[in-house]
Amino acid sequence: MNKIVFFGGKGGVGKTTCSSSFALSCANKGMKTLLVSTDPAHSISDIFETKIGYKIVNIRENLDALEISSEIECKNYMNRVKANLKNVVSPVIVKEIKKQIDAAAISPGTEEAALFDKMIEIIIDKSEEYDKIIFDTAPTGHTVRLMSLPELLGAWLNSLILKRKKALELMQMAQNAGKKNKDEIENDAVIKILKKRYDNMQKARAIITDNDKLSFVFVLNAEKLPIEETKKAVNILDKYKIKVDSLIVNRILPDDIKDEFWINKKELEKKYIDEIYETFKGKKIIKIPMLKQDMRANNIKELMVYFEDESRLS
Ligand SMILES: Nc1ncnc2c1ncn2[C@@H]1O[C@H](COP(=O)(O)OP(=O)(O)OP(=O)(O)O)[C@@H](O)[C@H]1O
Ligand SMILES: [Mg+2]
Repeated sequence: MNKIVFFGGKGGVGKTTCSSSFALSCANKGMKTLLVSTDPAHSISDIFETKIGYKIVNIRENLDALEISSEIECKNYMNRVKANLKNVVSPVIVKEIKKQIDAAAISPGTEEAALFDKMIEIIIDKSEEYDKIIFDTAPTGHTVRLMSLPELLGAWLNSLILKRKKALELMQMAQNAGKKNKDEIENDAVIKILKKRYDNMQKARAIITDNDKLSFVFVLNAEKLPIEETKKAVNILDKYKIKVDSLIVNRILPDDIKDEFWINKKELEKKYIDEIYETFKGKKIIKIPMLKQDMRANNIKELMVYFEDESRLS
């Protein structure tokens, strides 16, 4: 696995369990590890039975954790936008624009944009300090949308830059008898801000599509719906050049089953495992058994061996 590892997958398949167990395993090997939750319904605090907030805290030897608060990040994000504006628009309309920004804070997409900015900030600022940065994400749809943001926002920002340029050109032509002034357009404060944001999006895209730095792992169960959802998500991410290199098939039933109900379940499971191998040929597949207990810090240790023993991979 690369330095940055994302754990994604359908709701309830075991993303938090697997990412926490993998993080513990890395920390145990002596790697300085940071576990980050991007799921608004944070549950790494529950697994480690420790309060983890929106600031990095140490939870075990070599293991730090952080739960990104989209609410706080959204506020910070909006404040940054407001601060930027101060230098751009006249003080007379600042108040009105600020009102509109506050309204935008509750519009769809803003929380995701803020969350994404924070994620990229962590990757850029913390990559030197940590050997591994592991992300426990929210169920598939949310995460796939998040990963596609740089591409979508990049295209949108580009169209805004072009529109602003057109508007300035028209204004110049009206004022200077049909003449354009390229320097003035290049130095326009709004265009500068949009370009900076566009460049940051390109940088973010370069980071999340770098297959030597970032691994995307999908967790699934050997059942019909998680397989279907994984297929779709892998294809969408592929379109955005994000490669899913490993799959974790979690909660595999034990072999020594006597009860007829479970024997049938086990047979069905075998069929789905075969389908997973067939569908996702070429990807690393890690199998994790179903344990008797609920997952907590003291027993996710039992799962660590499955990340460490290469012979269990196929
Ligand atoms: N290998 C396992 N053996 C037994 N129970 C497991 C295993 N993996 C996960 N569980 C249990 O399944 C439930 C869901 O696991 P988890 O919270 O890790 O899933 P998730 O994918 O993070 O869910 P969400 O989409 O809600 O974030 C938990 O109660 C957990 O204890
Ligand atoms: Mg979870």
